[in-house]
Amino acid sequence: MKIHLIAAARPNFMKIAPLYHALKKEDWAEPCIVHTGQHYDINMSDAFFRDLMLPEPDFHLGVGSGSHAEQTGRVMVEYEKIIFDTLPDMVVVVGDVNSTLACALATTKVSYNQDGESFCFSRFSLPDYPGYRPLLAHLEAGLRSFDRSMPEEINRLVTDTLSDVLWTPSPDADKNLKKEGIAEEKIIRVGNIMIDSLEMLRGVIEKQKMPEELGLECGKYAVVTLHRPSNVDTQEQLSTICDGILAISDRITTVFPVHPRTRKNLEKFDLLKKLENCKGLMLMEPVNYVRFMSLIFDCRFVLTDSGGIQEETTYLGIPCLTLRPNTERPITIEQGTNRLITAETMVEEAEKILFSSPSSSQIPDLWDGRTAERIVESIKDISDSGC
Ligand code: UD1
Repeated sequence: MKIHLIAAARPNFMKIAPLYHALKKEDWAEPCIVHTGQHYDINMSDAFFRDLMLPEPDFHLGVGSGSHAEQTGRVMVEYEKIIFDTLPDMVVVVGDVNSTLACALATTKVSYNQDGESFCFSRFSLPDYPGYRPLLAHLEAGLRSFDRSMPEEINRLVTDTLSDVLWTPSPDADKNLKKEGIAEEKIIRVGNIMIDSLEMLRGVIEKQKMPEELGLECGKYAVVTLHRPSNVDTQEQLSTICDGILAISDRITTVFPVHPRTRKNLEKFDLLKKLENCKGLMLMEPVNYVRFMSLIFDCRFVLTDSGGIQEETTYLGIPCLTLRPNTERPITIEQGTNRLITAETMVEEAEKILFSSPSSSQIPDLWDGRTAERIVESIKDISDSGC
């Protein structure tokens, strides 16, 4: 079974790596990595491939940055060529970035060529689809923030609507999909694949000792990451957040690996110098997976607007302040260590963590490092049944 694994942006790499390694062990499976090139800086891409022991991608589309339509369109055009050249049986898209949506669209529209001739290359014939095409599987399906101002929410909604197989991380995701009318037999709860990467590399992460290198003591520093357009693209919001970060850095040493989008805007709004001059704040370039996780393992708390970090901190039992009005990962609040905050409440919320005893949390069901195994089983079942 020829299986394309689509990788595009930083948070995708931790999701395809465990699956790639698990499929590689199976004699019936032929996994193939397609990198769209949405992220391209060494620290945003290659360094993650190295850490996660992934080989060079089989195909690199090199699409780079652009507006949403440009980026999505370029991926569709380039990926369609790869589909026709290689004729995969299954395409696995992960997460919610623009490339996820673009490859989902390209995959579900390839049954016919421009002249209207049918391309019967896949052995999968789908009940609700005329002709044959690769199966589309979405890993991390069903997450919803119910906030359509987020590009990721649109990507999730469309990708899930188009997918033939929906692998979900948690019961809330199953519920969302059923409410949207997705057939129950397409929904398979497999757990959280990011935890597989974390467990696969736990030993390496623990040996990394990045905090020590930076002169940081375990439990005596905070980590900040920010990249959402709603936080970093307007001067007013980014400036309020910077004031909050400076105030937090007065209370606890704070480490801030700066995403390229955020750095550009800090420069544009003339905020970078102010942060660079703050004694308790360590600004740095984005860091690779192992080094970043070694920072997270020992920190007192994380302030972030990332999706994946909300999950990793819940798994590790580390307090997480999420600078967003909503989350597509509510289980990290209900069961885990996550709390939603605003730019106005961030200092007060950080103080609560610093000056009160930690509240209890639990690890959600199936976040156990064995998600890739469950997905391989699911693919094998599909392959054996022929549909
Ligand atoms: C993208 C995803 C977001 C994900 C995030 C993780 C979408 C809509 N957004 O956001 O869901 O949480 O990745 O990081 O798909 N840039 C570089 N080097 C790079 C990549 C980007 O300099 O390697 C800069 C470029 O100026 C680019 C900007 O960052 O225009 C934004 O990159 P883009 O991939 O469009 O969105 P992210 O903000 O990274």
